[in-house]
This record gives sequence, C-alpha cells and structure tokens, in this order.
Amino acid sequence: MNRSISFDASRRNSGWLVTGIYIIALNFSPAYAHSGAEGIVKERMDMMDKIGKNMKAMKGMIQGKTELSPDKIASNAESIQSASKHIKKMFPEGSINGPSEALPTIWENWQKFSSLTEELSIESENLKQLSTSQDKRSLMKQFAKVGKICRSCHTDFRKKKSKKE
Ligand code: HEC
Repeated sequence: MNRSISFDASRRNSGWLVTGIYIIALNFSPAYAHSGAEGIVKERMDMMDKIGKNMKAMKGMIQGKTELSPDKIASNAESIQSASKHIKKMFPEGSINGPSEALPTIWENWQKFSSLTEELSIESENLKQLSTSQDKRSLMKQFAKVGKICRSCHTDFRKKKSKKE
C-alpha cells in the first residue's frame, strides 16, 4: 500500500476534494501494487518490474550470492537492453493516471528522459559484452553504471517511495 499512501500525501496540498475523491477510489482497488493500473501504465510498470528482476538476478551473481554465469548475465543484460528501446513510447504525454508513480516533469524534460533511455541502452549492451570477461572488477563497475542510470531516472522522474531498486 506504500504506493497509495505516497500518492495521497503528495496530493495533500491540492485540497480535500482531490484527497476525498482519491480515498473513495481507493475503496474499490484491491490491495496489491499494480491494482488499478491499466493500459500503458500497467504495461510499463510490468516492464519496469521485469528489468528490476533482471538487475536483482545479476546483483546476486555479482555479489557472489549465486553462481556467476556469463550466459545469465548476458541474457539479463539483453532483456534490459531490449526493454530500454520501448521506454519512451510507454510514456505518452500526461499518462500519470491510476497508481502511476511517474512525475509530470517527464514531459517538461523529455530530452533528458529520452537521453537516459539511450544511456540505458548503451550501457546495458556494454554490460552484455562484458559478461564473458575474466575481469570481474570491470563487470562490477559496468553493473554499477547501469544501476546508476536507473536511479538517476527514478530520482528525477518518479515519485519517492520506500521500496528500493
Ligand atoms: C528513463 C527513465 C527510467 C529509467 C532509465 C529506468 N526507469 Fe524504472 N521507472 C521510471 C518511471 C518514470 C517509473 C514509474 C512508472 C509509473 O509508475 O508509471 C519507474 C518505475 C520502476 C519500477 C516500479 C514498477 C512498479 O511496479 O510500479 C521499477 C522496479 C523500476 N522502475 C526499475 C528500474 C530499473 C531496474 C531500471 C534500470 C535497469 C530502471 N527502472 C530504469 C523511469 C525509469
């Protein structure tokens, strides 16, 4: 329910009416994360979740918690790389309905948003290329670089919440 609580808090200043309407809407939504998300908002949340899992799988390997497999690094990095190509078209202007955590600043700074998707594409490709490298340090550094792009975009363009990626 973190999502709903933060949404509510962010709207507090816009008055009781909006808050009231939102609370009424809340009663009809089941209590799990993507509830109420529809269409493109749901699609992109699902996509982001998927790349979140890709990052988590690689993190486990890179930290030595699970066995390091070059094939798995490559396939996870590739999955992020191909998702990165779709991010832009999944954010049609003003699509912040339902439980979306996207900020309107996306469309005010579209150039920056757009270049972050390109960076993600380039750096996840570089990560894939490094999957077979014997140099673990450069693999780690490249993984961190990809993670930094995720964080950077979330910092600027996504509402704050307690869940971490
Ligand atoms: C170009 C900007 C951008 C980049 C790059 C980006 N994200 Fe996101 N991400 C967003 C936005 C905006 C949202 C909120 C979408 C919404 O709620 O409508 C989001 C949401 C998420 C969510 C939450 C999905 C949900 O269930 O609501 C996860 C997980 C996530 N991103 C993971 C990642 C990971 C991991 C990376 C890097 C591999 C990444 N993102 C890269 C912009 C980005």
